[in-house]
Amino acid sequence: MESSNNNNEDMVVTPWEVKGKVDYERLIRDFGTQSITPELLKKVEKITGKLHPQLKRHIFFSHRDLDTVLNLYDKGTKFVLYTGRGPSGPVHIGHLIPWIFTLHLQKKFGVRLYFQMTDDEKFLIDDKIDLQDTKKYSYENALDLIALGFKPEDTFIIYDVEDIDLLYDIALEVAKRITYSTAKASFGFKDNTNIGWIFWPAIQAVPCFIHKKLTGENLPALIPAAIDQDPYWRVTRDIAQKLGYFKPAQIHCRFLPGLGTGGKMSASKPETSIFTHDKPEIVKRKIWNAYTGGKPTAAEQRKTGANPSICSIYQYFFYLFEEDDKKLDVRLNKCRKGEILCGECKKELVQRLNMFLREHQEKREKAKDVIEQYHIKR
Ligand code: TRP
Repeated sequence: MESSNNNNEDMVVTPWEVKGKVDYERLIRDFGTQSITPELLKKVEKITGKLHPQLKRHIFFSHRDLDTVLNLYDKGTKFVLYTGRGPSGPVHIGHLIPWIFTLHLQKKFGVRLYFQMTDDEKFLIDDKIDLQDTKKYSYENALDLIALGFKPEDTFIIYDVEDIDLLYDIALEVAKRITYSTAKASFGFKDNTNIGWIFWPAIQAVPCFIHKKLTGENLPALIPAAIDQDPYWRVTRDIAQKLGYFKPAQIHCRFLPGLGTGGKMSASKPETSIFTHDKPEIVKRKIWNAYTGGKPTAAEQRKTGANPSICSIYQYFFYLFEEDDKKLDVRLNKCRKGEILCGECKKELVQRLNMFLREHQEKREKAKDVIEQYHIKR
């Protein structure tokens, strides 16, 4: 997005690149999305009961048409959930955040999930990756999704290359209605962009609409995803009604920071990312080397306190590993007052992470026996 580059040299947020310190308020303005207001949260709470921590903590902070979807739901029209993954490498903890939230929505609303594995997209945009790689990662990444506890009855995984026959007619309808100038403005395509990539956004639009083709039922899609995917939905929303569908709605989350000094967790920086396959000693090493808001010496920290707002370790508790608001607050205050040292937080986080990963890895192994039950062509 060129527009999100202005006035802030550091920030770049596009579906293919996230760089610098992300200013989420500015993304809401630049992308033209809505913030999630206290009123909207009340509405969600009325239907789902206690708010999920990711909503309460504004990890999901922005939306398009969430209110519309909830109003329809109130009146008896359900929706489908749609999210996805570009299978270009192993899954890290940051990828799990929107998936965990999606599972929560699926359970609370009792709705279907379409999950797109964009092996084609990753092949087209990355010179170093071939179709065998993206196919392999599609399989590997699907195991991570299933390990979170999605049920096969309500979960439909689409592997783009394998399932293209299911997608192609809708993709054509979409592609015919998006001009090159719109695509160029939305995605920043250049003269040297390969033509596969230019057509490709039509494929990411398809799961917004596929439910009708499969079931005859026309329902809106609600897409939980990190905000970098928004350009796809902008172009899709413009053409949805022309094709007789609801405009897809979105709910956007922030990026889990990496363990370094800034920027999101990224598979291209493995030392600052925790992968779901990481072994306990590796997790320990990465956390031990993580960037914190601590002071150079323990004595100084005890005296003047530390700064949790720049601490990657604190972010992990905030995003995923401390669901109890009171306990999170206690940690925050103790840190500021110098009553807790970075070593203690790191030790606790290593324990929690490794406990989570041990269970996840077990469930992931079991997922190998059932993965076929989740395939859209089951
Ligand atoms: N383009 C996404 C990616 O790289 C994958 C994706 C496809 C997706 N459909 C989606 C992500 C829907 C979120 C929601 O990573």
